[in-house]
Amino acid sequence: MDLSTTYLGLKLAHPLVPGASPLGDDVDTVKRLEDVGAPAIVLRSLFAEQIARERFSAFIHLERNGESFAEAISFFPRPDRFVMAPDEYLEHVRRVKAAVRIPVIASLNGTRPGSWRDYPQMISQAGADALELNIYHLPTDPEVGSDEVEELALQAVREVKRAVGIPVAVKLSPYFSAFAHFARRLDVAGADGLVLFNRFYQPDIDPEALAVVPSLQLSRSSELPLRLRWLAILSGRLKASLAVSGGVHDGRDAIKSVMAGAHAVQMVSALLARGPEYLGTVRQEMADWLEEHEYASLAEAQGSMGLRSCPDPEAYERANYMMILQGWTTGRHLVRS
Ligand SMILES: Cc1cc2nc3c(=O)[nH]c(=O)nc-3n(C[C@H](O)[C@H](O)[C@H](O)COP(=O)(O)O)c2cc1C
Repeated sequence: MDLSTTYLGLKLAHPLVPGASPLGDDVDTVKRLEDVGAPAIVLRSLFAEQIARERFSAFIHLERNGESFAEAISFFPRPDRFVMAPDEYLEHVRRVKAAVRIPVIASLNGTRPGSWRDYPQMISQAGADALELNIYHLPTDPEVGSDEVEELALQAVREVKRAVGIPVAVKLSPYFSAFAHFARRLDVAGADGLVLFNRFYQPDIDPEALAVVPSLQLSRSSELPLRLRWLAILSGRLKASLAVSGGVHDGRDAIKSVMAGAHAVQMVSALLARGPEYLGTVRQEMADWLEEHEYASLAEAQGSMGLRSCPDPEAYERANYMMILQGWTTGRHLVRS
């Protein structure tokens, strides 16, 4: 079965790409992923705060009023808590590139233009085949409106696109009030791909300890429908390619994502839980499903459930919403356990 796809202009044998995570930290694990057929890999992110901190620390030592700067960055983890320092990250990109033949996508994580300094160029020079910009930002200032938030992200994309010649994907959260419009603006700004979506690691509250507790839970397939919705809405309407991230756990999830419009299907939780070899199982499940359902290739399914041909997606969404709520009261509910 031909599962080939094109993502960020990269020709991939199939769409299942290990997403940004510790899966790319160890060169041997990356080789294992390549051996089981991963067509590309996304490395963990280098955070803008790591880059700033490097510069700030040097500055603070020279400044008599250093305390105010120290306070401003005291919320962030200490440099030794990060898995890789910025220069180690560059070295890691070089080592991974030297060890495997598949495309290596590096990742920068931050919120605003300028925050990555010259790291986009340095990462590109280290050999990365593409760059994923993770704009993970929770706007909490009541004085800052959605236009300003979007503009910061757009400027960051324009700036990075000017700085590097490699393709640039943007990984986003779903919390934009007019997401389709924002996606189009990113497309116009030159983003080569959109990755839908970041997971927000919602901190919990411990009521006895009066403490905010960070928690990391691996994803579930139930997180996928939010992604499917936006993939389907954007499919075929942008130049940028689309990747799904969040909630893909088996071949069926992957097929649904591709039908909704994904060109690449990123997986992290499932591979962390079941090991790199599971990628081969999911690929086989996709091929089997397509064969059973008489598809000639994955390309035939790609975007087939997109809403491009739907005359009025907004009306469709309202209708779906009302039907589900009304269905409950009339006893014809559509609950799936
Ligand atoms: C342990 C761990 C580390 C991660 N590190 C990063 C990272 O450095 N940068 C990033 O953009 N996403 C990171 N992610 C998020 C994943 O790339 C992915 O978006 C998320 O896990 C949803 O995909 P999944 O449902 O396949 O797990 C991380 C996820 C996990 C579980």
